[in-house]
Amino acid sequence: MPGPDAVPHAGIPAAVAALAPAMTAWRRDLHAHPELGFEEHRTADAVAESLEAWGIDVHRGLAGTGVVGTIHGRAPSPRAIALRADLDALPIPEATGVPHASRHAGVMHACGHDGHTAMLLGAARHLAVTRSFAGTVHLVFQPAEEGRGGGLRMVEDGLFDRFPVDAVYGLHNWPDLPAGTFAVHPGPVMAACDQFTVRIRGKGGHAAMPHHGVDPVLVAAHLVTAVQSLVSRGTDPLDGAVLSVTRMEAGTTFNVIPDTAELHGTIRTFQPATRARLHEQLGRLVAGISGALGAEATLEIDARAPPTINTRSEADLAAAAAEAVAGPANVRRDAAPSMTAEDFGYMLAKRPGAYVWLGAGSRPLHSPGYDFDDSVLATGAAYWVALAERALPLP
Ligand code: NI
Repeated sequence: MPGPDAVPHAGIPAAVAALAPAMTAWRRDLHAHPELGFEEHRTADAVAESLEAWGIDVHRGLAGTGVVGTIHGRAPSPRAIALRADLDALPIPEATGVPHASRHAGVMHACGHDGHTAMLLGAARHLAVTRSFAGTVHLVFQPAEEGRGGGLRMVEDGLFDRFPVDAVYGLHNWPDLPAGTFAVHPGPVMAACDQFTVRIRGKGGHAAMPHHGVDPVLVAAHLVTAVQSLVSRGTDPLDGAVLSVTRMEAGTTFNVIPDTAELHGTIRTFQPATRARLHEQLGRLVAGISGALGAEATLEIDARAPPTINTRSEADLAAAAAEAVAGPANVRRDAAPSMTAEDFGYMLAKRPGAYVWLGAGSRPLHSPGYDFDDSVLATGAAYWVALAERALPLP
């Protein structure tokens, strides 16, 4: 994807631009050695060893493989911020064909967390030398972002008790945006994510004599249709929500009505009230429709990530930092939120902060042909530096 990074942004400090070859080497090394959530031992070792070599205080073990580096600025101040990157890869067989492709069968960095880690390392390298800020920057390298709850574990393990901060910031590469440009949302960025399972118990029997039983397949079919009313008819059209049934399981052959059927799916919302209402109404439909058709059903909802919602003044600060690096024309403030989810929401639920998107030319996230766009490494690292220096200005 062509973008302004074909010509490096004027706002990137020369010393950060000079780190691009090193960041590219780190990124490709991480890419070649991807590790799944909570198993990022080699990745965490590499991060911790680099930080220590640069004289940065390192704390390990939060959420198992998490790493936190702490840099004190040139001037004392009680203020502190956290900059967060993610470490983990996905269970996807890689199909990029690049020389630095995954050496671990079935596992690959298909979401660019290798790039996120390399950019935060680049920023750490620079900030450890310049320390042109007042107060403290905590560099948070979080495990298990991809659905394994690493963000929640970090918070539960006392991230913000051991490393108190005024605000927390995150960044994700975003292939839908031109490379090297930013999107900063003033509020909601990504949705809350819940997973649900419906287990229907009917009464199986001969497919030619359905009147002797209760067909759970028919109950499941009615439910799949009925639950689509919860968003289309029950939710304010201006309030984003999604309910998708993604898996149906029932039966084994042509001529037998099974005893049971299962439905699985996901619910995405931004507003807590909408989230609670969809849970409640889904339960009512499951009980009502299955009961009306003579079956029994249970509903299990596994509440996953909360929504990722930026706080206004931190979003403004993040946008100012992005503009300083990439120029105002390359920072969008009007991008629509995404119904995908991000476990950075657990951190934003505890502290003010902002999560920004950095445009990067690549295939779609989570696809086997994805490879992080190294041309934006300097832009991302420069953003972190600009953000730290703006959030914690020297007197
Ligand atoms: Ni990701």
